[in-house]
Amino acid sequence: MGISMPNANAGAGVRAAASVAGALCFIAVACGALAGAARADDGYRLWLRYTPVHGQRLTRYRDAASELVGPDISPNGLSPTLRAARSELLRGLTGMLGRPPAAADRVRRNGAIVFGTPTSSAVVRGLALDLADLGQQGYRIRTLTVGGHRATVIAANTDIGVLYGAFRFLRLLQTRAPIGHLDISARPKIRRRVLDHWDNLNGTVERGYAGGSIWQWQSLPEHLSPRYTDYARACASIGINGAVLDNVNASPFILTPLYLGKVAAIAGALRPYGIRVYLSVPFSAPVTLGKLASADPLDPRVRAWWRRKVAAIYRAIPDFGGFLMKANSEGQPGPEDYGRTQAQGADLLARALAPHGGIVMWRAFVYSTGPHAEDRAKQAYDTFHPLDGKFAANVLVQVKNGPIDFQPREPVHPLFGAMPHTHLMLELEVTKEYLGQRTSFVYLGPLFEEALRADTWARGRGSTVARVIDGSLYGQHLTAIAGVANVGSDRDWCGSIFNQANWYAFGRLAWNPDLTARRIAQEWVRMTFGNDPRFVAPVVRLMMGSREAAVDYMTPLGLASQMAAGTHFGPGPWVAPAAGMPADWSSTYYSRADAHGIGFDRTASGSDAIAQYPPPLAARFGNLATCPQDLLLWFHHLPWSYRLRSGRTLWESLLRHYDRGVEWVRQARVTWKSLAPYVDAQRYRLTADYLAIQEKDAQWWRDASIAYFGSVSHRALPAGVKPPPDTLAHYEAFCVPYVENSSVSAPGCPPADVRVPR
Ligand code: GCU
Repeated sequence: MGISMPNANAGAGVRAAASVAGALCFIAVACGALAGAARADDGYRLWLRYTPVHGQRLTRYRDAASELVGPDISPNGLSPTLRAARSELLRGLTGMLGRPPAAADRVRRNGAIVFGTPTSSAVVRGLALDLADLGQQGYRIRTLTVGGHRATVIAANTDIGVLYGAFRFLRLLQTRAPIGHLDISARPKIRRRVLDHWDNLNGTVERGYAGGSIWQWQSLPEHLSPRYTDYARACASIGINGAVLDNVNASPFILTPLYLGKVAAIAGALRPYGIRVYLSVPFSAPVTLGKLASADPLDPRVRAWWRRKVAAIYRAIPDFGGFLMKANSEGQPGPEDYGRTQAQGADLLARALAPHGGIVMWRAFVYSTGPHAEDRAKQAYDTFHPLDGKFAANVLVQVKNGPIDFQPREPVHPLFGAMPHTHLMLELEVTKEYLGQRTSFVYLGPLFEEALRADTWARGRGSTVARVIDGSLYGQHLTAIAGVANVGSDRDWCGSIFNQANWYAFGRLAWNPDLTARRIAQEWVRMTFGNDPRFVAPVVRLMMGSREAAVDYMTPLGLASQMAAGTHFGPGPWVAPAAGMPADWSSTYYSRADAHGIGFDRTASGSDAIAQYPPPLAARFGNLATCPQDLLLWFHHLPWSYRLRSGRTLWESLLRHYDRGVEWVRQARVTWKSLAPYVDAQRYRLTADYLAIQEKDAQWWRDASIAYFGSVSHRALPAGVKPPPDTLAHYEAFCVPYVENSSVSAPGCPPADVRVPR
C-alpha cells in the first residue's frame, strides 16, 4: 500500500517519525515542509496535511492521543481497509503531534485511541457499543473509560466505517477542535457517492483543467502510480465511495480485455479505501466490439453479448459497481437508434448487471439537435417523465442539477420530484467547465447547496432535491449522487489550490446534503491552509462570494450559455447558430436578445417549460412579481426598459451586475494580497497570479458582453458606466482556440491577429 504524499519541495524531516515505519518517512518529510508558513507547498497533500499543533493544545491532544490500539490481529494480518485506517491515524497523529503514538494491543494508559469493529477488535466488542444505527458505512466516536483508562473509541460495523471514522477523528484535530469528550455518530445520507471522470483513454480529459488524466493507462496494470492510493485516501477522507474511470463519451476499447485488465488494477488500488470502480460504456459496443449487426436492446444476441461481457468484468473485478451510460445524446448511440425507449436501453444493461449486484446510472442528459427541436430545457423531462416506473430496480436515472448544462446558475431540473417510481440521482459538475476553468477562483459550495436545497414542491413544501436523492421523499433505498471530477495529473490535482475546495465540498455534501457551504469552506480552509482566524475568516468570505461574482460578470439575471463555443472559455454572447450545428449550441438561442428585449420566454406564451414544474413552482417562476430575479431571463423575455424591483431598468441592472462582478475580483486580489503573511509563498503566488488572470477575464467578459448587448439593444450607457475599450468586432475576432489537455477545441475560432482584450 502506498503511503505517499511527499512534497516535492520538502526539506528536512521530522526525525521522530522516521522510526515508525519505513513508509512513514514521507510524512516526516512532508511535516518538515510545513514547519514554517513561508516554506513552499505545492498543494499535493490537499486537505490531508496534518501540520504540527502547538502550545497547550498540543499537550491536550498528546494526552488524549498517546496510544493506538488497533484490532487484535497483527498489523500484517489486518484487512487492507483497517490497515489503511491504522496508517492514516499514524500518519495524521505523528504529523500533528510531532511523535508517533505508541502501538498497543489493549488499553494500557490514558489517551488510547481504539479503533476497529466488534468482529476485528476484542476491545471494541467488549464495550458493547450500540452500533445498530450506523448501517454499513457509518461510525461512532466516543470518549470512554476502558479498563480504568480514558480512551477514544472509533468503532463501526464495517472496516470502511472505521476508516471514515478515522478520517473524521483526524479532521477534529486538523481543525483544532476539542477531543476530550466526544460522542459522535455519523452515517451517510446517500449510499453511492461517485466521482465521474471524463477521462479519455488517450490521456486527455473532456473538460479537464488540471493536466491530463490521472489514470496512466500505458503503464497499467504492471505499474500502480502512488497517486492512485493518494487519490483514494483523499476520496475516502470525504466519503466518496465510487469512481467512474472514463469519459461519458465512451470508447469501446474500455471493454476490451486489454483495458479491463488495467481497470482491475486500478480497482485493486482503490478498494482498500472503499471505492468501487464503475465504467462509462458506449451503447453500440455489441456492434463495434462484438461485431454484431445491431445493438438493439431487445435482440437476444445483444442481451447475451452484454451478459457475457459483464460476467467477464466481474471475474476480474468482483466488486465492480456498474455502468454509466450517455445514450442518444450529443451524437452518442442509444436505444432510440432502434426505436426503443431509454428505459428499454437501461433494462438491457440492468439485466446483465443485476445477478452480480451491479447498477446502471443512466443519464437523462438527452436532447435532440434537429432544426425544429423543442426548447432544450424541456427535452429531458419530455423524454423521461413518461417512462416513470419503467426502469429496472437496479437503475438510477442520473439528472444534472439544472435543465440545460451546468450553467453558473440554473433553476432546478423539472425531473426532480417528477418521477416518484424511479430512482433519481443528481449529477453536479465539480470541474469548472462554465465557471472559468483552471484559473478562476470560484468556490462551488454555494452552487451545490443551492442545487440540493432547491424545493421541487413535488409533495408540497420541503420536497427538496436533497430529499429526492437521499430517498426520503419517496422511500427509496438505492440512492446516489455524482460529481464530474476536477482531478488531473497536475501536481496539485485540481489545477489550482482553490479548485481543491470543490472536490472537498462535493464529497462532504454527498455524505451529508444538509451541511452548509460555509461550514465546509471553514473546514477546508483550516485543513488546507491553517487555523489562524485572521486568515480563515477573510478567505471563507472570499469563497462564499466567489460564485455569485462569476454569475455577475458572466451570466447575470438568469442568462445562460453565453460562453465561447466549444471550449466554453470566455465570452461569446454573439455566437449564433452555425451551419450544421444545433441551434442550442449557440448563445443567441438562449439570450434571444434583440432591439426590444432579452430573455427566453418559457411561460405559456413561450415554450411553456414552466408547465413541467408542479403548480406552486410554476406559478412562482411564471409570475414576474414572484420569479426570483436571478432567474428572470431564464423564464421571461422582457423589454430592455422593464423595471426591476430596484427601480432600475433591465439594461441598467445588467450593466450593474457586470461591473459588480469585475469589482469583486479586484477586491479579492486586494484581500488575498493582505493575507500573504499567513500562506506559504508557493500557494500564495499561484493564487495571486490566478486572481490577476481572473480580473482580466472578468473585465473581458464585462466588456465583450456590454459591447454585444449594447449593439443589439441600441441602448446608450448611463453616466458612470465605462464604455468597453474595444469594438464589438474586436471581441468577436478574439478567442482562445484550445484548452490544454482537453479533448475539446473551439470551432469557428480562426487564427486572428488581434490584440488581447484589455
Ligand atoms: C456538456 C459538456 C460536454 C459533455 C456533456 C455531457 O455538454 O460540454 O463536454 O460531454 O456535457 O455531460 O455529456
